[in-house]
Amino acid sequence: MNDFEIFLALNVKMPISYLGYRLRFISRELRGKRRDQQPTTLPCRSWRNLVLNAPIRLLEADKSQGNVSLSEVIMLAKLVTEAKVGEEIIEIGTFDGRTTLNMAVNSHASCPIFTLDLPQGDDTAFDVEEGEKSFIDKPKPGMRFVQSDEPSTQRITQMLGDSAIFDWSEHEDKAGFMFVDGSHAYDYAKKDTETAFRLIRPGGFIVWHDYGVWEGVTKALEEIEAEQKLGLQHIRGTSLVVYRHPEAA
Ligand SMILES: C[S@@+](CC[C@H](N)C(=O)[O-])C[C@H]1O[C@@H](n2cnc3c(N)ncnc32)[C@H](O)[C@@H]1O
Repeated sequence: MNDFEIFLALNVKMPISYLGYRLRFISRELRGKRRDQQPTTLPCRSWRNLVLNAPIRLLEADKSQGNVSLSEVIMLAKLVTEAKVGEEIIEIGTFDGRTTLNMAVNSHASCPIFTLDLPQGDDTAFDVEEGEKSFIDKPKPGMRFVQSDEPSTQRITQMLGDSAIFDWSEHEDKAGFMFVDGSHAYDYAKKDTETAFRLIRPGGFIVWHDYGVWEGVTKALEEIEAEQKLGLQHIRGTSLVVYRHPEAA
């Protein structure tokens, strides 16, 4: 994707699709139809507030069912440029590796990337949502970076395990960027968020996907914000929630 296509995706396509989403939400409310998205309460901010000026390269722009949207992968690729020299980049929920690949290509050449997914056929510590089983049930996660000849993919380590019981101890306080996009069930959203806060370094970003889309994620993030007043921000026109860990004093 070239710079102009990236500009169009953020400045034209995303506002139009957000308008469509809002109209659909209001129309369903007025017609008394069952909601297919949740109303949300986290403060909604424009992506421009994140000052995402870094130029990026975008690979594998085509979205499969289960991937983040085009504007979301662009934002993740821009945010990951903020990870500092040597900091880890960690993703929970590899799926086909489209986001992992774009995080590798756009992060500093000294940043190792770790991405976790479930081994095929394993039982999970908590129940997962019925609707996400099709994303879990795949022969091998990360195919989009496995098949890529981009040199930066050499920095990616594919990890297999259940995020709730995975041994994260080697990664504590090492992540400059965390993307939480594993199971969308409430127990997992809570547990993965707790993990993210253990792994993130001062100045690092945590980003969650599917806020307002999966009830478990929406509930978990709103509860955490109500209890801890962390300043979680929902990025308008996306289902991303962003948190920046304060810099050390
Ligand atoms: C929606 S997909 C992730 C999409 C991907 N991050 C992207 O941007 O294209 C969710 C992934 O989380 C994985 N997953 C679900 N439960 C998990 C768990 N308990 N531990 C690790 N990964 C899990 C699924 O197998 C699936 O591949």
